[in-house]
Amino acid sequence: EKGNFRHFMAKEMHEQPEVVAHTLAHYIDMANETVQLPTDLPFDFTKLERVSIAACGTAYYAGLIAKYWIERYARLPVEIDVASEFRYREAPLPRDGLMVVISQSGETADTLASLRYAREQGQHVMAVVNVPTSTIAREADVVMPTLAGPEIGVASTKAFTCQLATLAAVAVAAGRARGVLSADEERRLVRALVEVPRLMNEALKLGPVTETLSRAVSRVRDVLYLGRGTSFPLALEGALKLKEISYIHAEGYAAGELKHGPIALIDENMPVVVIAPYDNVFDKTMSNMQEVAARGGRIVLITDKTGAEHASLETEATLIMPDMDPAITPLVYAIPVQLLAYHTAVQMGTDVDQPRNLAKSVTVE
Ligand code: F6R
Repeated sequence: EKGNFRHFMAKEMHEQPEVVAHTLAHYIDMANETVQLPTDLPFDFTKLERVSIAACGTAYYAGLIAKYWIERYARLPVEIDVASEFRYREAPLPRDGLMVVISQSGETADTLASLRYAREQGQHVMAVVNVPTSTIAREADVVMPTLAGPEIGVASTKAFTCQLATLAAVAVAAGRARGVLSADEERRLVRALVEVPRLMNEALKLGPVTETLSRAVSRVRDVLYLGRGTSFPLALEGALKLKEISYIHAEGYAAGELKHGPIALIDENMPVVVIAPYDNVFDKTMSNMQEVAARGGRIVLITDKTGAEHASLETEATLIMPDMDPAITPLVYAIPVQLLAYHTAVQMGTDVDQPRNLAKSVTVE
């Protein structure tokens, strides 16, 4: 049931504070402010040399963000691939390694094949999965459930942020086990995660602004999304969300890659959505934004108050996000990115919940 919402996608976007809180509660001991993985692991984080991740689409972007977290907080190297490549490229995998597959449906053919390949190669398989009765959940050694509830809209929203919440918990648990994070650092990260639902509610208030902005976006042919660090996978996710439901062509790029090609596309017709919380790479992203501005590009900046004060150039629109710990920005910045795609699709009059040519569960390769 859609309740008061026009589309399942809108309902599911607005459910995120609640389902992310629910998911976090599953992985966090609130009283002690520690991460507590719900099951005994059949492997030892301290003995791992490397983690491999495979997934498709939006779940793959969640995995890309997890790579940044696991490498930073647990000093554990991560390789990641889209499952359709991973399953055939015959990657050599370390003895007793860890394979993480991520899937909302738990039925995606390529992701399942990656799981099976990894098992044959003697890997421990962890599945971050939303449907607990799915094939992927059944075949994995360890299941890390995302508690998003049923996701009906074809475009993944709440499953994505619940995947991020789960993967953040895994990264922190690995960091603690490996002695990379101190108890104090763990507490800081846990406190930051616990703030996410409240911050998501704040971010959802950008609905009207993104709706206004969507009128301009719905008139263009192409949109470019830029981000650095953990905002880079979010740029990819923003572009995917926009193209799949509004049918407007969009590309996501690492901000630093701009000058290696895509800058040639910039003119006064193409909006460039820059995802740039005020974090350790903010200044670098700003200089990329200046390159866009100097070529007459139309900038839509998603940042916080401090970021807006430091961005000394004119934008077509600046969406102001609440202040937050840089560790959790991908979870909260996902919201304006989803809202913009949603409102643009509504403007275009497309079938938001059932976009053409797409299926909710891709069980053939
Ligand atoms: C995008 C989207 C798809 C899925 C992908 C993987 O909004 O929904 O890209 O993320 O097909 O599906 P699951 O997570 O079910 O394996």
